[in-house]
Formats: sequence, structure tokens, C-alpha cells
Amino acid sequence: MNEKTKKVSNKLVLLVGIQIAIISTSFLILELFESQKVFAGNSVNIAGKNRFLTEMVLNEVKDYYIKGKLIGDPISALAIYEKNLHLLKTGGIQNNINLSPLSEKFQGEWENINDLYLDYKTKIQIFVEPDSTNRETKLVEISDLADKLVAQNDVLTVQLALEVQNLTTMLIWLQAFLIIINIGAHLFMVKMIYSILKKKTEQLVKMEKEIAADKYRSFYEGMPDLCRTINEEGIILDCNMVYTRSLGYTKEEVIGKSIFEHTSEKNLDAMNESFEQWKKTGKVSNKDIWFKRKDGTIFPVLLNATTLTDDKGKLIGSNTVIRDITDIYEARKKLEESERQIKEQLTNLQKLNSLKDDFLAMITHELKTPLVPIKGYIDILISEKIGPINEEQKKKLEIVSSSTRSLLRLISDLLDAQKIELGQLKLNKDVHDLAEIVTNTVNKMKPDADRYEIAITTDLGNPIALLCDNARIEQVLSNLIFNSLDFCPKQNGKINIKLFSENKHAGIIVKDNGIGISKESLNKIFVKFYQVDTSTTREHGGTGIGLSVCKGIVEGHGGKIWAESDGRDKGAEIHILLPSVK
Ligand SMILES: Nc1ncnc2c1ncn2[C@@H]1O[C@H](COP(=O)(O)OP(=O)(O)OP(=O)(O)O)[C@@H](O)[C@H]1O
Ligand SMILES: [Mg+2]
Repeated sequence: MNEKTKKVSNKLVLLVGIQIAIISTSFLILELFESQKVFAGNSVNIAGKNRFLTEMVLNEVKDYYIKGKLIGDPISALAIYEKNLHLLKTGGIQNNINLSPLSEKFQGEWENINDLYLDYKTKIQIFVEPDSTNRETKLVEISDLADKLVAQNDVLTVQLALEVQNLTTMLIWLQAFLIIINIGAHLFMVKMIYSILKKKTEQLVKMEKEIAADKYRSFYEGMPDLCRTINEEGIILDCNMVYTRSLGYTKEEVIGKSIFEHTSEKNLDAMNESFEQWKKTGKVSNKDIWFKRKDGTIFPVLLNATTLTDDKGKLIGSNTVIRDITDIYEARKKLEESERQIKEQLTNLQKLNSLKDDFLAMITHELKTPLVPIKGYIDILISEKIGPINEEQKKKLEIVSSSTRSLLRLISDLLDAQKIELGQLKLNKDVHDLAEIVTNTVNKMKPDADRYEIAITTDLGNPIALLCDNARIEQVLSNLIFNSLDFCPKQNGKINIKLFSENKHAGIIVKDNGIGISKESLNKIFVKFYQVDTSTTREHGGTGIGLSVCKGIVEGHGGKIWAESDGRDKGAEIHILLPSVK
């Protein structure tokens, strides 16, 4: 227990003691007051009934321990009482009755005089309560009373009454005084308890404030970012360790400095703008600023400022959290650099691609140009229009002619694929009968089919009017028939071309009984240069651009093309849907 607590508890004990003393004194006085009330109450009667004074007094005294009454002349009654009991001296009655012998006698015989009836001239009765605890006191009162009774006159009686009155008044005052002291003690105690409670509350509030301040401090110091507190003039009032460490200053060097001293020269305007914005709006969010270290080096940060206000809400400063974004900045710089490089490479690639396209277009054109007359003259030679050739020569020339035709087709496909890619494929559309286009194509392909002994059949149905470039549709059909011829079994191959109309569309199905197409390859075969079999031992030649050209031409007509097959050796179907005229 500390000294203060001891003092307080001593005071409290003292106060409680005072309280107990006051309460007990109060009770004592009340007791006295009660007994005096007996006399006081009787004093009124005493004045008018002096002769029966004894009777009245004893009547009231009975409440305590004596019951009884003296009737008639009290002095005589007492004398008789004395005489009959032989307890009082006979000579003392007239002047000064001494009742002590009475008390002495009563000590032993108290119980025996319980119901004593005395008669002298008139009747006297005394009832004694043997169990009373206040015998002595009351005996004295009787003796006092007896004293007064000896005088036996009104003056003495009135005097007794006045004495009783005075004593009562005095007791009332005393009681009032005690009440006042009591109230005072109470007030003092309440005040003391109040001041103790007030002190405790103040201590608690202080402790809470200290804890809050501690928490704030450790939060402030523990922040991974730079923190500074400034006033409304931009002077730094406080900062955390990260701030001083990042800028290379000591705390003493930082406090009292302007925020502009830690801003890089190139960002002074931006900082000023941000500061003014904070003063206006009380907020700054993610402001990109460059800070300056003590050694003059600079680094990028993100500023976030909040407002500090006084009790009246007046702006007094700001808490600013500053994030060093050097890493982010570096990463961003690298990213921007690689983006720039990618863009550059893309531009180069685009240039190269365009060069390649130009070259391809040029080379294919240049290749095609001499091939056309070559094939023409070979065909003239074979036809023997300019002179006879023997069988052997004819055979060789036919091989040359066929190879030249393949080469021409390849070059044409390459050229077309190029045009399709560049969106430069031109279509000369007109209304044509699709059945007629099919018949023409089949007729042209017949010699090849015959050579392989593969049968080409058609289901043409009714004529179907189509707005199309007939040469291009023919090109598509011959590409598909060439593929079927390649992948069908020789001697036993079958190719069927079926036409139909469906929902304002013309449908073409080229079906063969060849090697078929696996499920995974069904979509891929329309991709440029894709071939299912790319092995060197494959029977089928080609470059894998035929179907991509077909797709480009069909889509150029607003149609679509796809492949269906039940799998390996189950044959293949190429389906085409083109918007018809009707
Ligand atoms: N009727 C078919 N039966 C089985 N496979 C086919 C059929 N048609 C095409 N394919 C597959 O699709 C691939 C691509 O055909 P595409 O016509 O595009 O190229 P290619 O015929 O190989 O060469 P190119 O047509 O350029 O001479 C073929 O290599 C083949 O694997
Ligand atoms: Mg092909």
C-alpha cells in the first residue's frame, strides 16, 4: 500500500469512527431526550396537580422499571412507605430524604416488593419491575423526586418543570448540533470520495491517453512507408525512422524543415500544386513526386496526405504517408523499354512481312509468266501441229506438260493465298447455274480421273442460280476433286458430287471413298500449309495450301466450308454452303 492510499484509508477510518461516535451519541441523546420527555410531558401536569406529583411521575417512570401510583398526600405516602418497610430514616423526611438505604434495601428485596400495596390515609400502590437494568439510575431519580416532594409546594414543582424544559431545549440543540456535525461529516466524506473518484478518473483518462499516444507512436514508427507530420505552412513537425533513413538525414535535421527541401528541383511546382490542393480539399491521393535525399540523389514516391484539425475543426496540419516506388518505377521503366522493343520488332516484322509479300507476289508472277508459254508450246508439240513426233517423244512431252500444269497450279494457289491474306482477292460475280459449273469442272478433270481409273459421278438435281465468280467456284471444285483423286484408292476410287438447295443456300458435297480424315484434323486441314501426313515417305505431294484457298474463296462468296469423315479409311466429305439467288 503506498503512502497516499494509506492516508486516504486512515482518513476514511477516522471518518467512519466519527460517524459511529456521532451515531452512538445521537442514540444516547435520544435516550436522554426520551427520558426527559417523560419529565417534560409531566411538567405540564405537575403545575396543575402538585399534590399528585408523585403519582404522575411514577406513572411515567413505570415505563422503565416501576409501575405504580401514589395516591393522596405524597409525602405522607412516602413516609408510610418508609415506615412500613423500615427502610428510611424517620427524621429525614421533613428536610432531606435520603433514599440510599431504600436502594440498599431494594437490592436484596427487590423481587419481594413486586406487588406491594401501601395504605396511608389514601391508598398507595407500588409495582416494581424486577428485571430492569437501570435500577440505580431510577432510584436516584426517585431520590431526586423525593427531594422535590419534601418541599411540597407549587414553586418547587414549577421549578422542576422549568429545569426539565431547559434540559429538553439543551438536548434539542445538542441533537441539532450533532445532526449538523453529522451532515458536515457526511458532506466531507462525500467530497472526499468524490475527489478520490475524480482523481482516479483523471488518472485513468491520463493513462488511456498515454496508451493511445504509445500505440500511435509505435504505429507511426513501425510503418513500412515514410511518414511525416507537417503544419499548415508545410513545416515538418515529426517524421518516422523510415523517413529519416530513406532521405539520409537525422531526425533533428528533418524537424522544422520545409517539405520543399526534400522535393527534387524538377518537382517543386508539382509539390506546390499538391500542397495547395491539400490546403483546399484536405486530401492528397497517390500523387507522383520525386523526392531528394541529403546527398542530392532523387527517387520517386507516391504521396497520400490526410488532415489534422484542432478541437474546433481548424486545419492545423497533415499526416503524410509516402511510399517509395523506386522498385515499381524501375519495373515500369523496364516494361516500357521492352514494350518499345516489342513495338520496334513488330514494326520490323511487319516491314519484313510486307517485303516478303511483295517478293512472293513478284516471284510467283515472274514464275508464272514463262510457264504459261512453256506449257502452251509443249501442248502444241504434243498435238503435232508443227510437225510429227514419235511415241517416245510424245510420252516424255506429256510428262513435261503435266509437271508444268502442276507447277502452274501451285504458283496460282500461292498467288491466291497471298491475295486472300491481304484481302485483295477479286471476285467477278455474276449469276450462274451451279450445276453447269460442276459439269464443266468434272469434264475438265475427267482425263485425270480416267488415268487413275477413278469414277466421278454427280447428283445435280434442279438448276441452282448462284451469284458467284464461276472461275473461282470451278477452282474450288477442281481443288477438292484433285484432293479426292489423290486420297482415293486407284482403280477402285469413287468420287460423287451432290448439289442441293436449302434455306436460300446452295449446297455442294464432294464425297470420296478415300483414306478419310481423323476427327482432330477435320478443322485443321483448312489452315494454310497444314497436311495430315507430313512424312517424307508420303505418297501424296502438295504444299497444303489448296483447302485454305478454297476456304478463302467460299468465305469471299459469303458461304462456309467444312469437312466430315467417319475416320481412317472411311472416306471424306467436303461440304460447302453458298448463298443462292432465289
Ligand atoms: N479428300 C481427302 N481425303 C483425305 N485427306 C484429305 C482430303 N482432302 C484433303 N485432305 C488432307 O488435307 C490436307 C490439306 O489439303 P490441301 O488441299 O490444303 O493441301 P494438299 O492437297 O496437301 O496440297 P496442295 O493442295 O497445296 O497441293 C491434305 O494434305 C490431306 O492430308
Ligand atoms: Mg490439295
